[in-house]
Amino acid sequence: MSRQILVTAALPYANGHIHIGHLVEYIQTDIWVRFQKLRGQRCIFVCADDTHGTAIMIRARREGRPEEVVIADMREAHIRDFAGFQIEFDNYGSTNSPENREWCERFWAIIRKAGLVKEKDVEQLYDPVAGTFLADRFVRGTCPKCGAEDQPGDNCSCCGAAYTPADLKNPKSTLSGAVPEIRTAEHLFIELEQLHEFLNEWTQDGTHLQPEVANYLKGHFLGEPLRDWDVSRPAPYFGFEIPDKPGHYWYVWFDAPIGYVASTLEWCKKTSGESLPNWWDAHSCAEIHHFIGKDIAYFHTLFWPGILKAVGFNLPKKVHVHGFLTVGGKKMSKTKGTFVMGSTFLKHLPPGALRYYYASKLGTGLDDIDLNLDEFVSRFNSDLVGKVVNLASRSAGFMAGQTLSDVYPDDGGLFAAAAEKGEQIAAYYEDCNYNAATREIMALADKANKFVDDRQPWVIRKDPARADELRDVCTITLNLFRQIVTYLAPVLPELVKQTAELLNRPIAHWSESQTPLTGTLVSPFQHLMKRIETKQVELMIEESKEVMAAEQAAVPAAPETPAPETPAAVVFHAADQWKDAGDALANEALAGECTIDDFAKIDLRVARVIEASHVQGANKLLQLTLSLGGGETRNVFAGIKAAYKPEDLVGRLVICVANLKPRQMKFGLSQGMVCASGSGGTEVFLLSPDTGSVPGQRVH
Ligand code: MSP
Ligand code: ZN
Repeated sequence: MSRQILVTAALPYANGHIHIGHLVEYIQTDIWVRFQKLRGQRCIFVCADDTHGTAIMIRARREGRPEEVVIADMREAHIRDFAGFQIEFDNYGSTNSPENREWCERFWAIIRKAGLVKEKDVEQLYDPVAGTFLADRFVRGTCPKCGAEDQPGDNCSCCGAAYTPADLKNPKSTLSGAVPEIRTAEHLFIELEQLHEFLNEWTQDGTHLQPEVANYLKGHFLGEPLRDWDVSRPAPYFGFEIPDKPGHYWYVWFDAPIGYVASTLEWCKKTSGESLPNWWDAHSCAEIHHFIGKDIAYFHTLFWPGILKAVGFNLPKKVHVHGFLTVGGKKMSKTKGTFVMGSTFLKHLPPGALRYYYASKLGTGLDDIDLNLDEFVSRFNSDLVGKVVNLASRSAGFMAGQTLSDVYPDDGGLFAAAAEKGEQIAAYYEDCNYNAATREIMALADKANKFVDDRQPWVIRKDPARADELRDVCTITLNLFRQIVTYLAPVLPELVKQTAELLNRPIAHWSESQTPLTGTLVSPFQHLMKRIETKQVELMIEESKEVMAAEQAAVPAAPETPAPETPAAVVFHAADQWKDAGDALANEALAGECTIDDFAKIDLRVARVIEASHVQGANKLLQLTLSLGGGETRNVFAGIKAAYKPEDLVGRLVICVANLKPRQMKFGLSQGMVCASGSGGTEVFLLSPDTGSVPGQRVH
């Protein structure tokens, strides 16, 4: 009986494009799914975009577009990139879907009822300029231990010390450059400790996790009480609002894995006779397999099984964890051009080249895998073009329009011996040991090539009296070729299609590797694969440098990393993207022309609000103290009370008219103006300079 298998790859964040690092995982998973399908298992592959969280919110603000628009665009781009690499999902959803909201609410209700949720106050850094709480990675400062500057909010890259962002000296928000404040907010926690016993058993029983992962959990987490898991964030946050805690949202890592369930549900809805319990019910016979990178193992091996257990769902049969991609032995680098986007790769190279290279590198462990660019070129050319496709190119041409021999000729036991290797190769695929599988397959290709070298069909062909022999030699060669293609089918779907066309017989099942084809028509030979050239790789690296430079220029980077120069030829946005209405302009006609000299009279400066308060007796005004830096300040009364709270203004940067003639008002001396747009009342929008500017700078 066939197995019923649900496979997932991690849900990629919607705040960035798919790069060749991600593709390690999606290619690894796709190969496994194709393998299962080829073996006749009932297997589905679901995934989705991971859309929630602070990063998306910030990106949306920077781009001046609603989050929903940003994530819709990115989802489309992800789908396009995955399709380009022949990664085939049965469903590709989004965590921002009604299905996901529904299941988050259901899970939540059960978890609450089970008494797993508790409330605690949390001190968190808050960016007064960006108006948001800051995740650790959005804070940088001086290491409290070794004094190294510009370190991230959670641990020091120099001395390795771990700390909380509140411990950093001179902390700065990477969003705005502002000095963060400490604010207290209520958070909801899941008491994982209540599931400790279950997690001990589940992680250590030797069947669900790779031994390295099980040992890591045992050594680092399971030896002591499990920490409460903070699953809520106060507004503003882009996510799902918690029904019984208005103004608070589920932390992205709560709703993301539930996205696996929601995506399955979407698939069930479009597939007749399918239902969610069939896959996710605790009593279902479906096997759930998650594929993830080692950076997110913690979430998938502790939180997620814990949650599934708590709600009475099907538990993962296996969590397959892989290592990280390095290029030339180093971390992918934006400036060196080794941070290659999937779409950039596809402009220069065929997807099969990456699929095959990763397959040849992936083993069962968590080791990082290295993309060595020279080896990448030579391996594709020598293995696939030189050994595999070469079998077809040295035989199919002689057979075009003819049929294979009616009886499979004597090949000295070659086909049968290779067929016998089938189960071993299948076992390697099952264990994600693709590296061993491809090695085994290439050894078969070597033997097949030796056969062709020995029999020399190109010589036989010259003698019309040996036509039958030629047909037999080509029949054997093409069968050995087809057998190898079947074994490589999970890795190279394109080659499978081409081979099916060439030999007029589909390869839809692994068993095609076990019996030779006879008597079928051979189509005219078309080139199956071209050699790749080093030049193509060089062009890809060059373009990646440009793409990354453009990306960094389009989205202002954190203040500490200066944006590289922008190549002139890159267009960032289509002009018709926003379709802004004309009302604002129509309501207030443009002023009469002014000269550059007129404009120069007005000295606009960047200023920081260092104090803000209500003004007694004034119902529209706030009193602001603006700093121009170096102790220079301005006292300003601004008509923004209906739109801003004083506490939200302190710390942020504004633009002020710094040379406006002071004016005595009922409440005091006003020494300037802050610039804002809008019609007044609550419709007032303060101007802010972009990240990087500092108080005192003149606006030109
Ligand atoms: N959104 C989360 C996953 C939520 S799953 C419920 C996430 N997204 S991600 O876009 O950052 O990464 C998606 C997957 O790609 C992760 O499994 C991650 O480990 C993997 N990789 C991202 N960069 C990678 C490399 N450079 N190398 C190998 N895998 C990498 O994490
Ligand atoms: Zn340090």
